[in-house]
Amino acid sequence: MIRAQVRGIGHYLPERVVPNDWFTSFLDTSNEWIVSRSGIERRHFAAEGQTTSDLAIRAARAALDDAGLVADDIDSIILATSTPDLTFPATATIVQAGLGMTRGFAFDVQAVCAGFVFALANANAMIQSGQAKRILVIGAETFSRIMNWEDRGTCVLFGDGAGALILEAAEGDGTVEDRGILATDLNSDGRYRDILQVSGGVSSSQTTGHLMMAGKEVFRHAVDKLAQTTLAVMEKAGVTAEDIDRVVPHQANIRIITGTARKLGLPMDKIVVTVQDHGNTSAASIPLAMSVAKAEGQLRPGQLVVTEAIGGGLAWGAVLLRW
Ligand code: ACO
Repeated sequence: MIRAQVRGIGHYLPERVVPNDWFTSFLDTSNEWIVSRSGIERRHFAAEGQTTSDLAIRAARAALDDAGLVADDIDSIILATSTPDLTFPATATIVQAGLGMTRGFAFDVQAVCAGFVFALANANAMIQSGQAKRILVIGAETFSRIMNWEDRGTCVLFGDGAGALILEAAEGDGTVEDRGILATDLNSDGRYRDILQVSGGVSSSQTTGHLMMAGKEVFRHAVDKLAQTTLAVMEKAGVTAEDIDRVVPHQANIRIITGTARKLGLPMDKIVVTVQDHGNTSAASIPLAMSVAKAEGQLRPGQLVVTEAIGGGLAWGAVLLRW
């Protein structure tokens, strides 16, 4: 049985680090409020002119270096973003050109904060069906470009960054001992599209728009739906919470992360947490967290890892893999 195995990982964060105190110069807020409600202490913002593809290319190069590969060893790029450089072409093709990759195919996936999980599931399906042998799966965002700086309930929560993971086809036995992706679960429910959305777009207002969020409503859905999708992948693979070595959750908010862990009966020492340093980087948050965790020795070959995310749509899902 063909499995999509992790071959390499890397990330890039823009140089500018913005601590919570920065917001107090123009908003009625405080470090204490932001930390207590979200767990966020700082985030990175892209420099003027720095685009999502710029961040993605740097993360992709780091992943290629980690894997000992060059761009032309890759068959496909799947890039998850809600903040593309342009309306079209896909940011993935800009990354393809930026890496000097002259073969294969590249496209974007848009599932907001769940984008990386959706991209991983797509990459897994393409590898299992034989369409590609090596896929660069990227999550890259510049959410600072869509903030309403007068809305203290949202602009303090997000950051910019990129992470990239290389998946490679490998033969497995078809058991949960195989390395690679073991189960995926994707969901969306467009009835809830209004509670987290950007107020502009090509065919509606011809403007970029700003992020708007009914925070309490999103929170209300998050823990239940994240627990449900995490249980779904565990059930599909026939494993239990005790078997899980590491959880890499979407890094939106420490209260959602701890609430979901508690609901699943998973101790916090199994949970990778980077939200304090990155804020919510939407589709980039999971590969960023994975890359940091790997560098710190928290993610090691052979570990059973589950990753889960929820975001605008609502869209949510999970992937279970053996690292
Ligand atoms: N500083 C100080 N006060 C603030 C701030 C701020 N930055 N933002 C809001 N407040 C105020 C509000 O105005 C409100 O004041 P009021 O009571 O006088 O009206 C008070 O704080 C409480 O506001 P709430 O919105 O009720 O605060 P809550 O405890 O719900 O926390 C938060 C807000 C952090 C947004 C929370 O609802 C949340 O975490 N929601 C989930 C959001 C999230 O993580 N989304 C991302 C997941 S999906 C994705 O990744 C895209």
